[in-house]
Amino acid sequence: MTQLKQHPKQQELIKFAYWVPNVSGGLVVSNIEQRTDWSYDYNVKLAQTAEKNGFEYALTQIRFTAGYGAENQHESVSFSHALLAKTDKLKVIAAILPGPWKPALAAKQLATIDYLTEGRIAINVVSGWFKGEFDAIGEVWPEHDERYVRSEEFIRTLKGIWTTDNYSFDGKYYTFKEYTLKPKPLQKPHIEVFQGGSSRAARDMASRVSDWYFTNGNTPEEIKKQVDDIREKAKQNNHQVKIGVNAFIIARDTEEEAKAVLQEIIDKANVEAVNAFGDATREAGAASKEGEGNWAKSTFEDLVQYNDGFKTNLIGTPEQIAKRIVELKSIGVDLILSAFLHFIEEVEYFGEKVLPLVRELERKSENQQQITAKSA
Ligand SMILES: Cc1cc2nc3c(=O)[nH]c(=O)nc-3n(C[C@H](O)[C@H](O)[C@H](O)COP(=O)(O)O)c2cc1C
Repeated sequence: MTQLKQHPKQQELIKFAYWVPNVSGGLVVSNIEQRTDWSYDYNVKLAQTAEKNGFEYALTQIRFTAGYGAENQHESVSFSHALLAKTDKLKVIAAILPGPWKPALAAKQLATIDYLTEGRIAINVVSGWFKGEFDAIGEVWPEHDERYVRSEEFIRTLKGIWTTDNYSFDGKYYTFKEYTLKPKPLQKPHIEVFQGGSSRAARDMASRVSDWYFTNGNTPEEIKKQVDDIREKAKQNNHQVKIGVNAFIIARDTEEEAKAVLQEIIDKANVEAVNAFGDATREAGAASKEGEGNWAKSTFEDLVQYNDGFKTNLIGTPEQIAKRIVELKSIGVDLILSAFLHFIEEVEYFGEKVLPLVRELERKSENQQQITAKSA
């Protein structure tokens, strides 16, 4: 009988994930040298390096076509499984798009992977932002908020199938009649469900059904607004949701070096690809009724990292970055989703130089809280 592998309990510590470079071109749309590769061999080495260096999660991306220089894309679920086969502790979050994926197949496929990997698969339900991609593969393209209606049904049905026998659901997009999935996933109560997107519709969905809310990079002030908003609504819905924030990390021995790398990335931006990406994103956050979702306010420079990762400003010395990470934690962020220019070497540097400082600051702040609590 396969046993569920226990994940180390680190509830009180901020968690780290990294973007799997399963698409070509790295995580910045720039002609700067990137010692990052989308091949399987590179990704296996990266995953093994990451789990040794304190990363608990990896996130694979799903793309069927791409307009921002990521010409080649390995499929997310099979790639995630292949990385899980070569690692021990890492959890891999596979991005899934409702539309191409149907919940019956996704539930079954993921439950099997859960068994084969001792409970280390998770998913990121992404609602789609690129109409050209959906047109190319013959999928219908519901308008912005409707995509979230479908995603919410997708998540509800997955969780229903994973936890309930004789499961029935009569929704707008999906129907189940007394369906029993066997075996159910190993992870209890079910496989973790992340979601990506920041619009009103995305936040409302997170506050009702998702286990994790992933958002694009942003300033602590803007992230705090999202965290407060989602947590307040989740409380009303009697639901708990954790928060993950994207950041492109440039950690160097001096602040000048780190800033110079950022400048070089931007100076060497692939202007045509960034602009094409910017045009495609108008179907996303800006298309939502309130116009507040991902990329709604992104500048050209922001878009060079395609999930606004520079805005989070984890760019500087290990000390500066550790301090900013702990600030993010203090406003309610549970996880940093990181990307790097030269993934393997920088994940190692992060594990050796930045992470110990983060843990030290967390310990200090915990001690401080205990002293304050005692003297109150
Ligand atoms: C962390 C993160 C990861 C994402 N990964 C993918 C992906 O792999 N594939 C994809 O098509 N969209 C991906 N998206 C895009 C979202 O699903 C969504 O379409 C986009 O953020 C716009 O959402 P909004 O209009 O609700 O803000 C991701 C978004 C975030 C924040």
